[in-house]
Amino acid sequence: MSKRKIIIDTDPGIDDAMAIHFAFAHPEIEVIGLTTVFGNVHTGTATRNALALVEMAAYTADVAHGAESPLVRSLNPPADYVHGAEGFGDVPIPDSETEPDSRSAATFICDTINQNPGEITLCAVAPLTNLALALREDPGIVDRVREVVIMGGAIDTRGNVSEWAEANIWCDPHAADEVFAASWPITLVGLDVTQQVRCDPADFHSLAAASPIIGGFLNKAVQFYVDFHRQRHDLDACFLHDPSAVIAITDPAMFTREAASLRVVCEGARVGQTVRRTSESRRAVDVCLGVDQDRVRELFLSVLKNADTAMAERKNI
Ligand code: BDR
Ligand code: CA
Repeated sequence: MSKRKIIIDTDPGIDDAMAIHFAFAHPEIEVIGLTTVFGNVHTGTATRNALALVEMAAYTADVAHGAESPLVRSLNPPADYVHGAEGFGDVPIPDSETEPDSRSAATFICDTINQNPGEITLCAVAPLTNLALALREDPGIVDRVREVVIMGGAIDTRGNVSEWAEANIWCDPHAADEVFAASWPITLVGLDVTQQVRCDPADFHSLAAASPIIGGFLNKAVQFYVDFHRQRHDLDACFLHDPSAVIAITDPAMFTREAASLRVVCEGARVGQTVRRTSESRRAVDVCLGVDQDRVRELFLSVLKNADTAMAERKNI
């Protein structure tokens, strides 16, 4: 069976690292590239972190440096209280010896979709600026992409940066609104489902025991992330936001969906809110509103327990 070809647009980020290592270890996924953007960290740090994740896993994937600020609004400070100053909690990340691709993230997205018509799944787990810039650069990609899966938004639940807004949408609401206005097939994996999917410290210890290099790295990085969840949510666990989006690609049956056109509030107190739009015609988005959280968690752990084995096999090739 041919593998699902995906580009992950990312701001790594602790749960981004979980999603990326999950995708690298998954036998049915081929990660073609990582495109980077601001959000959890500045874009320069996101690019360095993406290169480090590729090297850690001995994976072959391009990294393309993306937008450094939102389309219209000013840049918010990085979410260092969630992901640490450098993105991976207290785990230091050395500079990579590998250079990123010479193209911008938006150009890389357009080129890759155009060279593989009908094959590329674009998985965005960060603010949507690169996707909006790719649409502006080549609007024809809407007909050539296979699917767009986005971690973002809060539809029937409260936000996580304000009562109304989820972080990825809030960081660049104008970009998100352009992405929802485009006529391409989108699945939205928002807080309605990602906050239902959780792993606790014992889960990450088990990953470290099974896969000391990659599981060990995630186990160390996640300490900071779990501390944030303890303080903010009174949880001795963390949400699997970004991994849930990757799992919605390979295992869509683990989620229930509703078709709805969406718009994003771009100004005012509710900036960043994702709302159902009824008055105008926009292509409907598949909005995930329910999840089999036990199966998603089990899949997450079972794939990542093999991460070091998958890496060793790649090194031997
Ligand atoms: C999203 O915001 C970031 O902090 C996470 O990496 C995730 O993509 C959750 O709201
Ligand atoms: Ca992210």
